[in-house]
Amino acid sequence: MAEAYSEAELIGGQRLTDKDVQAIAALMQHLAGNKSLPAKSLEQLRWHYEMVLAQGAYWVVVRDSGGTIVSMAIMTPHLLAEYVGKRFATVNDVSTLRAHEGRGLGKRVMRKLFQVAREKKFDHVDWTSSKTGAQAFYEGSTMQGWGVQRRHTRTYRWTPGGT
Ligand SMILES: CC(C)(COP(=O)(O)OP(=O)(O)OC[C@H]1O[C@@H](n2cnc3c(N)ncnc32)[C@H](O)[C@@H]1OP(=O)(O)O)[C@@H](O)C(=O)NCCC(=O)NCCS
Repeated sequence: MAEAYSEAELIGGQRLTDKDVQAIAALMQHLAGNKSLPAKSLEQLRWHYEMVLAQGAYWVVVRDSGGTIVSMAIMTPHLLAEYVGKRFATVNDVSTLRAHEGRGLGKRVMRKLFQVAREKKFDHVDWTSSKTGAQAFYEGSTMQGWGVQRRHTRTYRWTPGGT
C-alpha cells in the first residue's frame, strides 16, 4: 500500500522537536549531496532554524505517516523591496529525502509555497537551480501549469580566491 503523507504545512511559531531538527539536518545533507556538512549540535541547528524564521521566511514541510519531516522548501521575502512597494520572494532549500523522492512531495511543498505567495500578494517568486534532476522537476508540465517559467538570467558568484 502506498505510504500516506501529510498535507504540506507551514512550520514556525513553535519550538521544533529534536526529531524535526534531525530530519531537517538530513534534508540539508541531501541537498549538499556528497559534500559532508560540518557537525552541529541540535541546539546549533535549532538556532539556524530560528534565524531563518526571524527573516520572515515561510518554511513548508511534508511529513510521513510517522510524523517525520521528509520534504521541505523555504521561501524568503525580500523585505527591503517592500520599502519601495515591490513584493517578491526567493525559494531555497527544496529537498525531499531520497527514500521519498518521486512521490509528488516536492510538488506538494512547492504548491503550498505558491499558495502562500498568492495570499501574501507577491508579484513573483524566483529561484535558481544548477542541478539537472532539479531542473527537470521545475520544468515539468505540472509546474508549467502552475505558472513556473524558466528565465534566462546570469548568476554571478564571488569567491575569496580573487585579489
Ligand atoms: C528535486 C527534488 C526536490 C524533487 O523532489 P520530489 O519529491 O522527488 O519531486 P516530485 O515527486 O514532486 O516530482 C515531481 C515531478 O518532477 C519530476 N522529477 C523529480 N525529480 C526528477 C529527476 N531527478 N529527474 C527527472 N524528473 C524529476 C517527476 O518526474 C515529477 O514529474 P511530473 O510532475 O511530470 O509527474 C528532489 O529530487 C531532491 O531533493 N533532490 C536533491 C536536492 C535538490 O536538488 N534540490 C533542489 C535544489 S534547487
